[in-house]
Amino acid sequence: MYRHEMAEEELEAIRPLVKEVASRHGSVEEADFLDNARTYAQELPGRLRAFLNAFVLSEPSGVCLISGYPVDNAKVGKTPSHWRKKPDRSSTTEEEIFLNLCGALLGDAIAWSHQRDGLICQDLVPIEGHENIMLASGSELELVWHTEDARYSYRGDYIGLMCLRNPDAVPTTFALIDEVRLDPDQVEVLFEPRFFFRPDPSHPRDSEGEKASVLFGDPRSPYIRFDPYCMDRPEIEEARSAIDSLTRAIDENLTGVALLPGECLFIDNYKAVHGRSSFKARFDGTDRWLKRINITRDLRKSRAVRAAPASRVVH
Ligand SMILES: [Fe+2]
Repeated sequence: MYRHEMAEEELEAIRPLVKEVASRHGSVEEADFLDNARTYAQELPGRLRAFLNAFVLSEPSGVCLISGYPVDNAKVGKTPSHWRKKPDRSSTTEEEIFLNLCGALLGDAIAWSHQRDGLICQDLVPIEGHENIMLASGSELELVWHTEDARYSYRGDYIGLMCLRNPDAVPTTFALIDEVRLDPDQVEVLFEPRFFFRPDPSHPRDSEGEKASVLFGDPRSPYIRFDPYCMDRPEIEEARSAIDSLTRAIDENLTGVALLPGECLFIDNYKAVHGRSSFKARFDGTDRWLKRINITRDLRKSRAVRAAPASRVVH
């Protein structure tokens, strides 16, 4: 695992920075915070900045873990019963700021207008009644691995997760495409734009599908875009067999990490698939609670579907 364990002197710099930013902005959802996030992020300790810069630039792994941020269990309060934010000041503003400042070293946070009220920083909590739904708010049904928003070319480059609470050590699952061994002939097939991607259940069902390749970039270390549950079964045997081999190989390589409170996991949405194991939620305020952000390296590419150059919401 590509990881960064924060030293005490780094935390001594981070704590006042996060507090100062929190005193200026009530919420990471404020446009003024988002407009300045990259600037604030330059005040994070150099060792952490260098670590994240290398993660972006050299792609040493499809995931990276930052640990050591102290989470005060009492201060963050009970796990909310829903992702919808309360209008009052959040008990987790400082944690959200830390996650967003780390994210700002990877790119710009974005949200989809039709997902979770267009929130930038989202609470991943089990929702009562969603136990058997395959969404981030589910619990008893495993969230099967996928790349995020695979159907959309405006999908994020990274997903950032920060754990506030995970008492049952529920793993966030992932597989790294660089560790998946495939037959070169099948790689060639997967590089062809002949696979049909449909919107996943978090997007409007009536939006159209898109034909694209599953692998792209450098065939020796490819990028991946893959969500078998939201793709049409190819009619041609050669394509079907390539999809099945890739699915099997990913299944064999699937691993996971049970995040601890304070740990941040960044998943490269081009280099890894991710999911979540099933678990039994209690719905009593002590359940697993993660924060999630979606980051793009190039905000400009979605300009046609955003209201302004600095707007973070994709319509
Ligand atoms: Fe996901």
